[in-house]
Amino acid sequence: MNYNIALLPGDGIGPEVTAQAVKAVEAVCRRFGHGVRFTEGLIGAAAIERCGNPYPEETHALCLASDAVLFGAVGDPRYDNDPTAKVRPEQGLLAMRKRLGLYANLRPIETFAALVDRSPLKRERVEGADFLYVRELTGGMYFGEKGRRDEGDTAFDTCVYSRAEVERILALAFTYAERRRRHLTVVDKANVLETSRLWRQVAREMAPRYPDVQVDYMYVDNAAMQLIREPKAFDVLVTENTFGDILTDEASCIPGSMGLLASASIGEHTSLFEPIHGSWPQAAGKNIANPLAAILSAAMLFEYAFSRAEEGRAIRAAVAASLDAGVVTEDLAAEGKACPTTEVGDWIAKQIKTQRL
Ligand code: IPM
Ligand code: MG
Repeated sequence: MNYNIALLPGDGIGPEVTAQAVKAVEAVCRRFGHGVRFTEGLIGAAAIERCGNPYPEETHALCLASDAVLFGAVGDPRYDNDPTAKVRPEQGLLAMRKRLGLYANLRPIETFAALVDRSPLKRERVEGADFLYVRELTGGMYFGEKGRRDEGDTAFDTCVYSRAEVERILALAFTYAERRRRHLTVVDKANVLETSRLWRQVAREMAPRYPDVQVDYMYVDNAAMQLIREPKAFDVLVTENTFGDILTDEASCIPGSMGLLASASIGEHTSLFEPIHGSWPQAAGKNIANPLAAILSAAMLFEYAFSRAEEGRAIRAAVAASLDAGVVTEDLAAEGKACPTTEVGDWIAKQIKTQRL
């Protein structure tokens, strides 16, 4: 196959980690006989500086014309502490999600044998935990009406969901549950919120169509607790945008480092693959950021965008080998043993080319 991939490195450590993911993609394409072409686009603060728009039209056109999008991170401290800033890097990411119709964000949480002792939770709690978050990504408070009134002294953000929006994300979650361990947890706040009551109503209506899937309903506050108390009790969780944003950060600490977690955003147009972590501006240019989440995003890219499970497996095997060999960045390394970002990327690319499959 010949693949065209849009590469959007973004801000902070984004360019450094996506460069390592590119090495992994090129290595796996060479190994499996695929052609691949990357075309770079601007997004986030980098795009605001160049053209005043965090998601320029050329970038959108590039994404639409590509087979998949590999994205780094957006965010810049120059905008964070300025509540009056009219354009923000994050708007680029939100605009991209909305305009590409990426309504589902898939965040798999798995543990790595070499890292379980780094988890803030006890080994016996996390070992073997393996669940998938399905976060709704183009609705809810993120995109509902927002504004100020009373001369700016009152602010509001509105959480809105239509039945169609709820149905399509639930259908996806049911389908993933069917393919996994057939257990779906619908996370909401139906004791308080009307949108949550709609979610629960629609889920109850749909459940009989998936007779093999056991469905649980859990309030979001309880889910936040159960996630830490018994992460192994979960298989697939589905939730609305804001709850999903918060819970997936919480879940990301379970494996021991946020630097390991990848995600896929899928929907109407080209799918997007990105690490869960942000732009970590303090580390930018220092060659210390962990590239594994970006590299594992490349594995998800092969699995979800190209239906190439074997290529995905090859990347995952190389990542696991790097952890076993201790070729890791400072967030995971023993005292004095840290490798630079580029070295981890080179090691994994070489491993992909030479490992036995
Ligand atoms: C995420 C991020 C984004 C979000 C930010 C950067 C807008 O936190 O992907 O989880 O809130 O969705
Ligand atoms: Mg987030």
